[in-house]
Amino acid sequence: MVGGNSQVLEVRAGRFSRGVFTDHPGGSLIHSRAIDAAIQERIADDQFVRTFRASPSLLGLGFVEAIADQTLINIANLQPLQSGGAIRGQAISVDIVESPGVQRVGRFGWKNQQASLLSFSGDAYVNEMGITTPLFPVENTSNGNSIVAYDPLPIEPDDGDNGDLELFTDFMRATKAPPRDAALAATPDAQAGAVIFNQIGCAICHTPSITTAPAGTVLNGGAFTVSAALGDKIIHPYSDFAMHEVGTGDGIVQGFPSARNKVRTSPLWGLRTRGRFMHDGATLTINEAVLRHGGEASFVTFLYRFLPSHDRGKVLTFLKSL
Ligand code: HEC
Repeated sequence: MVGGNSQVLEVRAGRFSRGVFTDHPGGSLIHSRAIDAAIQERIADDQFVRTFRASPSLLGLGFVEAIADQTLINIANLQPLQSGGAIRGQAISVDIVESPGVQRVGRFGWKNQQASLLSFSGDAYVNEMGITTPLFPVENTSNGNSIVAYDPLPIEPDDGDNGDLELFTDFMRATKAPPRDAALAATPDAQAGAVIFNQIGCAICHTPSITTAPAGTVLNGGAFTVSAALGDKIIHPYSDFAMHEVGTGDGIVQGFPSARNKVRTSPLWGLRTRGRFMHDGATLTINEAVLRHGGEASFVTFLYRFLPSHDRGKVLTFLKSL
């Protein structure tokens, strides 16, 4: 295949009333397709909080899992609170599903709703694909109604021993982070663009370098030991993996009501491979994605907007080299 349109956007919905968000009946994730029309989910008229969500890349996420909590907390704590515009990432703690009672700083998903790749996979398996596992044994409903009568595999959980989950979690842990476009990155424009990116404050949230925890560190409540391949590595994700309010909040709560209108800083590694931007995939050029930032990023966006156009071009060249 040389072309096609395979971008998948999922839909999330719910209600916001008297200061409280409630999920759409059956959960905020809307199953737009189903094996039987009778259980296809549709948004009810009174569910006014709605958004599209793009699927983020999974490449290199083993390195992200191997970042110590304290490293992420320190990055957020160093963000400036000065009058030009306060920037302060919110690090939120979430359950490690495979280690009951243990929490780590969330780093996966648009709302940082997961912190381990096994939990993240189990969550996606049941919610995005409808496959139950011992970690997530309960089938979703259809708009709140039981789907049992339509289930071709009524014996739960579908993946009886987490076997599939563990295999593709290992696969994700073995993927490399997306490499730079070396030729473009070496150009004077891209190099100048990287300097401007730092100077105007993009790098405050889009953290250029993070060091992973040492090999041998035991994480996720004992369920994951950092390997030599993932440990003590300097990675270049261009993200602080924290929640920020940049004026794009979609209003959906996944765990943290206080992060309702926040979105996790998108990692910019591999940006050049994407064609639709921001959490809702609604922005079609990188320049427009940058201009769309408001809220905590307003002052930085203002500086970008008023750069001489050749300097803005250099920032864009740098971004396209990532
Ligand atoms: C206050 C933190 C913050 C600052 C400052 C910031 N960003 Fe972002 N950036 C974010 C967040 C959060 C998102 C995700 C927003 C969304 O999807 O709704 C994002 C998304 C992006 C995206 C879209 C990536 C994708 O794959 O969809 C690009 C490109 C980007 N930022 C570039 C920049 C540039 C360039 C600057 C400086 C002019 C900048 N950002 C400043 C937090 C920030």
